[in-house]
Amino acid sequence: MSVLDDLPAHRRELFEARVARWLPDLLAGLTPLYPDPHAVADRLLVAAAQAFADRDDELHALDLRRTLAPDWFQRPDALGYAAYADRFAGTLADVAARAGYLTDLGVTYLHLMPVLTPGPPPNDGGYAVADYSTVRPDLGTTADLRALTRELRGRGISLCLDLVLNHVAREHAWARAARAGDPEKRAFFHVFPDRTRPDAYEATLPEVFPDLAPGSFSWDDDLAGWVWTTFNDYQWDVDWSNPDVFCAYADVVLELANHGVEVLRLDAIAFTWKRLGTNCQNQPEVHALTQALRAVARIACPATVFLAEAIVGPRDLVGYLGQGEHWGKVSDLAYHNGLMVQVWSMLAARDAVLASRALQQLPVPPSTTAWITYVRCHDDIGWAVDDADAAAVGLSGFEHRRFLSDWYAGFFPGSWARGLVFGENEQTGDRRISGTAASLAGLGTWDPNAVARVLLAHAVVLGFGGLPVLWSGDELGMLNDPHWAQEPGHAEDNRWAHRPRLSWPDGGPPSPVSPAIADGIRALAAARATLPQLHASVAAEVLDPRDPAVLLVARRHPLGTVLGAYNVAPEPRHVPLDVLWGLGLDPARVVDHLTGAAPVVSDGAVQLRPYESLWLR
Ligand code: GLC
Repeated sequence: MSVLDDLPAHRRELFEARVARWLPDLLAGLTPLYPDPHAVADRLLVAAAQAFADRDDELHALDLRRTLAPDWFQRPDALGYAAYADRFAGTLADVAARAGYLTDLGVTYLHLMPVLTPGPPPNDGGYAVADYSTVRPDLGTTADLRALTRELRGRGISLCLDLVLNHVAREHAWARAARAGDPEKRAFFHVFPDRTRPDAYEATLPEVFPDLAPGSFSWDDDLAGWVWTTFNDYQWDVDWSNPDVFCAYADVVLELANHGVEVLRLDAIAFTWKRLGTNCQNQPEVHALTQALRAVARIACPATVFLAEAIVGPRDLVGYLGQGEHWGKVSDLAYHNGLMVQVWSMLAARDAVLASRALQQLPVPPSTTAWITYVRCHDDIGWAVDDADAAAVGLSGFEHRRFLSDWYAGFFPGSWARGLVFGENEQTGDRRISGTAASLAGLGTWDPNAVARVLLAHAVVLGFGGLPVLWSGDELGMLNDPHWAQEPGHAEDNRWAHRPRLSWPDGGPPSPVSPAIADGIRALAAARATLPQLHASVAAEVLDPRDPAVLLVARRHPLGTVLGAYNVAPEPRHVPLDVLWGLGLDPARVVDHLTGAAPVVSDGAVQLRPYESLWLR
């Protein structure tokens, strides 16, 4: 390939070796998508070669280090943090200047919410991208982005950015050209002249933002047609069955990787392939296109890994980490939405039986991948409780979901939670919830146990195995922002209540709202980093609960088994000693890794205080 001609022989050889290794994956991914997969692969290889030739030496060195230690994101000393750049610190340069705060927390992975140029407000917090090749002007430039990735890399922190690949802003150049009548760019979108096809699709499509943006298609005068808009009317879904769309996004992947971005978060990946008569989520082609995109990255920039943002039901979730033919070939990371939902469900219900059942039903993810585990993120919580799981433990899924919404909105008698209802769907009765971890756990209310609940939730998430990601502000115990609706464009979307702005008094670190939460989370992170059994290559094994209020998570590891025991109730609970014996743990020699002390044993059981967590080794 001529773009490689000027490279030294060893570089050319490396590129050729990677093509030989990954071309079969690339073709296997493209084959179900496009009539001429070889032609598409040829275009992609040229783009990959160009990106490889342009890649900095420092990033080539990173590629080498990552391929020697591909488990970097699985390790127990890996810890994530997610934030909006401006709400966390200011510009990208300010984020770089404040990276010491992250290092001090033990952070090794930073997800900055959309930083590429969005459309004009409202733009869904930047999730409507108008230009993938420039940075949002108020945050800085692509030079600042490169400087930031270099600063973070020097600290051992990998930067994750969103690759919003299901849709673009109505102001993106592709959409503008389509609106101006360019037929090639019109074919980047799903556009219909009348309601026939949209109505046929909508018969089986769920609503994503039922109150903010009802329906999945929007009429556009310039297009003189209905355009597919799964989310808001200004977010136009692109048509991935068009190979030009695939090649355009491959260019974006390669460009971001060459800026030093190490993790690409595939936003709303579940929605990228449409099929009439389905809910147009989790179609098999979604995994094929991820595999092909991943193969391109493995050829040009193997340090780059993918994170699937698929907030889908438990049955569909593991597919994003690679099942069947896609094993080891798609995303390396995926959000464990099910664990997050079950953590909040356990706290409201004071019961671990449903959570245990639901977590037991999940297939084991490939050993080379990791769940992103989290207590909260920038989005609302949708109560992804499976009807079959609920029925198996004698609950109605519908009633339990309704209970969780009522509980976290603070409507249910006795509720300590202070969340907000988001995305109410009157037809299905579905009500999602916004709120920070501290507010959802009842910090600042009459109930004295909020701190204990926040720490318990984080202990489950940090002790599960995977890459735990802290949501900015939660590490300080920040409450919902009472003024969330006042910023322009935010009034309709109460997810802004839990997207707080951190303040840095005199350049020093932000002061915690709850020092007990801040200290507790730091202690959990430090304990996690020194527990090799939490490496994500070992699967978490959820045991049948013996005390209904105690979640039991075993991690069998060659270095010895660890048992996580979590009391989700506000009263003392226990773990019978035979559970320990059954795992090969000698109750007389067992130590709680969180305190370094022996647990309290009496009446033939390990005793847990209200909301206590133990990591027994
Ligand atoms: C993802 C983002 C969410 C956004 C949506 C549409 O789910 O997390 O914030 O609204 O995609 O881009």
